[in-house]
Amino acid sequence: MGFIIRLQDAMMSPVRAWWIVLVCYLVTLMPCFSLARATEESDVRKGAAIYARYCEECHGPEGRGNGPKAPLLSPRPGSFVSAATSVKSDAELLQIIENGVPRTAMKGWKDILSKEDRLNVLAYIRSLVHFHPPSLTPPPPDREFTGPRHP
Ligand code: HEC
Repeated sequence: MGFIIRLQDAMMSPVRAWWIVLVCYLVTLMPCFSLARATEESDVRKGAAIYARYCEECHGPEGRGNGPKAPLLSPRPGSFVSAATSVKSDAELLQIIENGVPRTAMKGWKDILSKEDRLNVLAYIRSLVHFHPPSLTPPPPDREFTGPRHP
């Protein structure tokens, strides 16, 4: 009997126990969040260096397809900040970076860049687009025309 009572004393209320579990969980995960952010940033930074070295001459400094070589190319490189590129999945763009685009100046880079470098340069290309979801503010109501009317 005495043992059971002591056990009950030792046990915390379930709510308190859950709080402790939750706090421990978040404290443990915190470094992971900052680590994930840090690696993402460094991917983009590494990708920027690769881009400047290998891609910028055609694709342009901001990926708008206006590098110094672009006017000499047909077809010209498109813009990475266009919807046409943004809608493509990571897998599609990686496939293009690996194997190139047939009948264009875009060659495959898989023999020149490691898999990691290809992922980093993709991270950089993605970082050029800053997607903002459309605002949810409703449009102003239609106003009746109050200016002068000419018959
Ligand atoms: C000699 C010029 C040239 C160089 C250098 C070059 N590209 Fe391209 N790239 C092109 C052309 C031309 C296209 C085809 C037209 C297009 O889709 O923009 C293209 C297409 C692409 C596309 C497909 C875009 C889309 O929306 O379909 C990606 C991604 C791409 N290039 C990435 C790169 C990366 C990464 C590098 C550097 C490692 C690079 N390119 C270097 C000329 C070049």
